[in-house]
Amino acid sequence: MTYEEMIKKAKEASSKAYAPYSKFKVGACVLAESGNTYVGCNFENSSYGMTICAERNAVGNAIVNGELKIRAVAIYSPNMDNCTPCGACRQVLNEFKSKNGLDVIVKINDKIKIYTLEELLPETFNL
Ligand code: THU
Repeated sequence: MTYEEMIKKAKEASSKAYAPYSKFKVGACVLAESGNTYVGCNFENSSYGMTICAERNAVGNAIVNGELKIRAVAIYSPNMDNCTPCGACRQVLNEFKSKNGLDVIVKINDKIKIYTLEELLPETFNL
């Protein structure tokens, strides 16, 4: 699947987001080493801290399908261009990055921009 198609999947997923508090909808699509993709959306809670971001939902979807290595993640929000993952999600993505790293794909003015996770989260903590 191309990165453009992954952004499209992330956009579709963002339409399912449950974000009644922030009204900030996000969708994500991860590409696993197998070549399969998995989507997620954010879902909030009246106890705000329980909120799960789209990226972590997509990673969980990959994990439950037996995927432990992620090559790329596309993120889309109708509310914001260049919607890069929050710090917590960067650390979660780091846990499952493939041996060749992990690309983070976002949309800016209907074009895609590709970051590496290494750029977004340098000097990572790993055990
Ligand atoms: N959110 C995500 O799902 N992913 C991001 O990359 C940024 C933030 C969600 C969390 C919360 O539901 C809403 O966006 C506002 O922070």
